[in-house]
Order: sequence, then C-alpha cells, then structure tokens
Amino acid sequence: MVLSVDNVSKSFKDNVVLDNINFKVNKGEVVSIFGKSGAGKSTLLRCINGLETIDKGNILVDGEYLYREADGKVEAANGDRIKKIRRSLGYVFQNFNLFPNLNVMENLILSPTKVYNLTKDEAEKKAFELLTKLNIEDKANYYPYELSGGQKQRVAIARACMLTPKIICFDEPTSAVDDEVKRSIYDIIKAFKSENVAVILVSHDRDFVESISDRIINLECGKII
Ligand SMILES: Nc1ncnc2c1ncn2[C@@H]1O[C@H](COP(=O)(O)OP(=O)(O)O)[C@@H](O)[C@H]1O
Ligand SMILES: [Mg+2]
Repeated sequence: MVLSVDNVSKSFKDNVVLDNINFKVNKGEVVSIFGKSGAGKSTLLRCINGLETIDKGNILVDGEYLYREADGKVEAANGDRIKKIRRSLGYVFQNFNLFPNLNVMENLILSPTKVYNLTKDEAEKKAFELLTKLNIEDKANYYPYELSGGQKQRVAIARACMLTPKIICFDEPTSAVDDEVKRSIYDIIKAFKSENVAVILVSHDRDFVESISDRIINLECGKII
C-alpha cells in the first residue's frame, strides 16, 4: 500500500467539501476518482499532495504521515519528512500550473536538474522524448502564453513524467485534448503502472476512466458512494 486516506474531512468555512473519506491505493494500481463538477475531486488531490490542510483524519504516503490526527488536532508533516513525501508525489494540475516565465523545455528540466541532479543533457533528452510522444516537440522553445489549452495540458503531463514518483495524480488530464493525445495519455498512465507507480486519476470522462482504471471511486458531494 502506498497511499492511505483515513477518515479525512475538509471544509471551506461551512461548506463541507470532503466528508469522512476513506480509501487505500496499492503500488501499480490505477484508481480513478469520478464525480460531478464541485464534488470535491480536485480538493481531495490537493490534500493528498499536501497543498491543502485537512480538518480531520490521516493521510499516509508510502508509510510516512503527511497528516495525522491526535487528540482531535491534525498535525502536518514538516522538515525532512515533507521533503521526502514531496519527492514521492507527482501532480498534473487541472489548470496546468506551468511556470509562465520559462519556456516548455525549461519547464520540463527545472525540477529534474535542480532537485534530482540529472545533467542538463540527460534531462533535455528525456524531455524531448516525452514531448515527441505527446506530439508537441515543435513547441519546446515556446512560452506557456503561446500555447493552446490542450498544448499546455500536454506540457504539464510531460513535466510530471520527467520524474518517477511513487504516486502520480492527474486532474482531468483528457479535458482539452483530441483522441490521438488521449491515446498517448493512456499509454503514459499504463507505463507508470508497469513501473509500479500508483496512479490517481480525476476525471469525468467515463469511457477513459472505465478503460484504464483498476478501481473507480465515486465521489458525490464530498462522500464516497
Ligand atoms: N480554496 C477554496 N476556497 C473555498 N472553497 C473552495 C476552494 N477550493 C474549492 N472550494 C469549493 O470546494 C468544492 C469542491 O471543489 P473542487 O474540489 O474543485 O471540485 P471538483 O474538482 O470535483 O470539481 C466547491 O464547492 C468549491 O467551491
Ligand atoms: Mg476539479
């Protein structure tokens, strides 16, 4: 088991967005979180990635606590623990979150060269392979503002694929792409799975979810149903 979400609740003021969520994910498993807009899917991914605090419960990433509850208070991981957890997690955001002041290639190689000590040549080679796979290699020198939504989505996916995390989260990865790119994203997810990476996929694309998932979690108004 690489992720454990136990009794997690989260509200924004009086809006209960996650209501006692429980699930576990194993290595190499593709788990989809399916549900309507506003159901709490992105919030759940943000909590799993430590980008949102939680009000109740525990989240364990690869055996380390990201959040743990004791005596009714939730403690968040810090220091070396959070650094280690961050390295285990990959995240493709729904709104892509590309660095606006860096071109596509620079977006891809920043973290691998700065945090993971790949050489620039190694990182660029890998980046180019990924961009080619996603059919966007001709945009390597473009800046995010020069790209369409679907192109930005592909760059965000390529950037997340530069590293091999233990868990990778995709938030609506197929929302802005055509069938050919969707097929590449399918292949990328399967490749992560074959490397024993756990994939958490948020999507309301029912066909895509059904074709790729080992398990589907239905989220409705912050509850698993
Ligand atoms: N930062 C925030 N502050 C206040 N409310 C938020 C915030 N983020 C999300 N919400 C609310 O949480 C609910 C779930 O949002 P979200 O997780 O984005 O849903 P989904 O991804 O399933 O469409 C919505 O009602 C939304 O308005
Ligand atoms: Mg969302």
